[in-house]
Amino acid sequence: MAVREVLKYPDEHLKQSSRPVSDFGADLHSLLQDLQDTMQAGPGGVGIAAPQIGEFLRIAIVDVSGRKNTPNNGLMILINPEIQTWDGMKIGREGCMSVPDFTGNVIRAEEIELIALNPEGEEIKYQCQGFEARAVQHEMDHLDGLLFLDRLVSRQKDLFRRKVYQPS
Ligand code: NI
Repeated sequence: MAVREVLKYPDEHLKQSSRPVSDFGADLHSLLQDLQDTMQAGPGGVGIAAPQIGEFLRIAIVDVSGRKNTPNNGLMILINPEIQTWDGMKIGREGCMSVPDFTGNVIRAEEIELIALNPEGEEIKYQCQGFEARAVQHEMDHLDGLLFLDRLVSRQKDLFRRKVYQPS
């Protein structure tokens, strides 16, 4: 159990594609715990993908249950996830622990259906909508070496520097 260092843009490793998980033993469970610890330690804390901590495996974790008025599936541990259906398109603001100084507007599907393996290697089917669907698509992009920066419609209009809050 540990909070791990998060790779930050422009680290070239973030462009790497990750490989499927095939071993569901103790190493995987310890990595899943590290991912959750690291996600919870970050600002926002709604999602993380294994390559962000330098583990190039197809694992994404999403938990938007702490947000008000947000339909959700609770804690989703998505191993080798595959989106099966996409519906609707919506523009929305995204941030990322690997891009700490910026947020950006990205178009994502509003509703998705996906399958993924759980930590025991069993297949689970999910339906996600709204912010949760956006978070899943964002985290799954990391598994293919993509950041939200790669999906901005316009770098001029859709990229925003985060406000820096001075400690009082
Ligand atoms: Ni991200």
